[in-house]
Amino acid sequence: MEGFLITFEGIEGTGKSTQSSALYKYLQKEGLPVFMTHEPGGTPIGDQIRQLLLNPENNEMCPITEILLYEASRAQLVHQIIRPYLEEGYIVIADRFADSTVAYQAFGRDIPVNVIREMNSFATWGVNPNLTFYLDLMPEESFKRVKLRVEETEKIPDRLEREKLEFFRKVREGYQVLLKDEPFRFKYMDASLSPQELHEKIAEFTVRELKKSNLYYKHENGSENLTLPSDFLSDAERG
Ligand SMILES: Nc1ncnc2c1ncn2[C@@H]1O[C@H](COP(=O)(O)OP(=O)(O)O)[C@@H](O)[C@H]1O
Ligand SMILES: [Mg+2]
Repeated sequence: MEGFLITFEGIEGTGKSTQSSALYKYLQKEGLPVFMTHEPGGTPIGDQIRQLLLNPENNEMCPITEILLYEASRAQLVHQIIRPYLEEGYIVIADRFADSTVAYQAFGRDIPVNVIREMNSFATWGVNPNLTFYLDLMPEESFKRVKLRVEETEKIPDRLEREKLEFFRKVREGYQVLLKDEPFRFKYMDASLSPQELHEKIAEFTVRELKKSNLYYKHENGSENLTLPSDFLSDAERG
């Protein structure tokens, strides 16, 4: 496949949405073909599945139903968006992807990891990220951020935002196992840094990996230098 798939992973409140949209804007400014999406959702069908998954009224959802819904949303996203864009040579940025299901469902909800991996490869049609930024933060800290976000947006907390600290501890441990398994795909990021610092590191690393992949990285002005956006905070979308 022609393109380059970048995913963002980590527990709630680590800054995945902030950083994926900042990276998207940065690559777009650099003149590269880039598309951004998120999970669950990202397609009309996926967005309806997302509603089911996040609705706090659905607290009786059993773990297997939960996995199948995530995988259904993912299958549709890969089929309708990710694969076609990669085939066109785009850089695709996904705010969460298959690793989330391993971390949350296998480590968080104790579903056998081999079952999840099978379902992931079925749903993704074998599409794998070229690069995954893992944003790491202690669950206590991420909880504070989620609480702030809920207050700022005046939303009621969704089903996952209501999970207990203990659940996110297990999910975070799960991500750590994934990082050990695939140290070359994952890039560990200390998510306690400021949004701007994180963004600069992420942009710099992405450019390095894109160049290494021999895909493309042509500046129209011929410059090899990385220009970092200074207006990050006003630029970044939240969500
Ligand atoms: N590096 C950071 N330091 C402090 N707060 C942050 C940082 N990145 C994001 N935030 C804030 O924390 C909350 C969660 O960020 P968000 O990007 O929505 O995380 P996620 O998508 O991983 O759940 C938001 O209110 C956001 O403004
Ligand atoms: Mg988010």
